[in-house]
Amino acid sequence: MAKGRRSKSKTTNTEHEKYMAAREALNLIKDGMIVGLGSGTTTNIFIEELGKKITEEELSIFGVPTSFESRILAIKNGIPIVSLDQCDVIDIAVDGADEVERKSLNLIKGGGGCHTMEKIVDYYAEEFVVIVDSSKVVDMLGNKTPVPLEVLPSAYSFVLKELLRRDAAPSIRMAERKRGPVITDNGNIIIDVFMDLKEPEKMEMELNTIPGVVENGIFTKVNKVIVGHKNKVEILQKE
Ligand code: 5RP
Repeated sequence: MAKGRRSKSKTTNTEHEKYMAAREALNLIKDGMIVGLGSGTTTNIFIEELGKKITEEELSIFGVPTSFESRILAIKNGIPIVSLDQCDVIDIAVDGADEVERKSLNLIKGGGGCHTMEKIVDYYAEEFVVIVDSSKVVDMLGNKTPVPLEVLPSAYSFVLKELLRRDAAPSIRMAERKRGPVITDNGNIIIDVFMDLKEPEKMEMELNTIPGVVENGIFTKVNKVIVGHKNKVEILQKE
């Protein structure tokens, strides 16, 4: 029982930290902006808060969603959405992350399997801002979180062989109750890998050279990370 209480309060603290980071990111949003809307529980809070801000301040802001989930949530919260084809520029993208390396600000993303569209929108943006709770910040990328690869289903056995050849410990991400693989918004599967990430920029490029890999979850072009804590936010900039 005591154990249950502890874990509930840990969840509540994490949720609060996500909220702190999301609220801080809101200060970066100005009238007239086109905003990339990331995916995941932290970004969901940002999308809800952005919806409120647009209504309260009568702002003209458009969102570019990075997943089916963020698209639906944006619509539900009154954020007009545009597709990538309709924008010459995305002023800012706000997205979550699974791991953030403190010094380099390199990331692992794709815990929700949306990293392909996230990378397109986040890298397209003039400013790419990441919002996380404090548990996501690490000294060395990739020790506890695998790197997800979005892979064409028809190429999975070839990609698995290529990854085994690179000692990447690949595993196909399975859906709940393991009845089949997780299927992305693009109709592909996810293969998670553990590998040496001492040179993230090189790995980010190299993994995409395997035929059948659509995109990987290493992100190396981040401008700013906002970390939520209990009573404050911490802004990480590249050293
Ligand atoms: C989805 C992502 C998410 O941004 C990442 O998994 C973080 O999610 P959360 O905010 O729920 O911890 O990359 O593909």
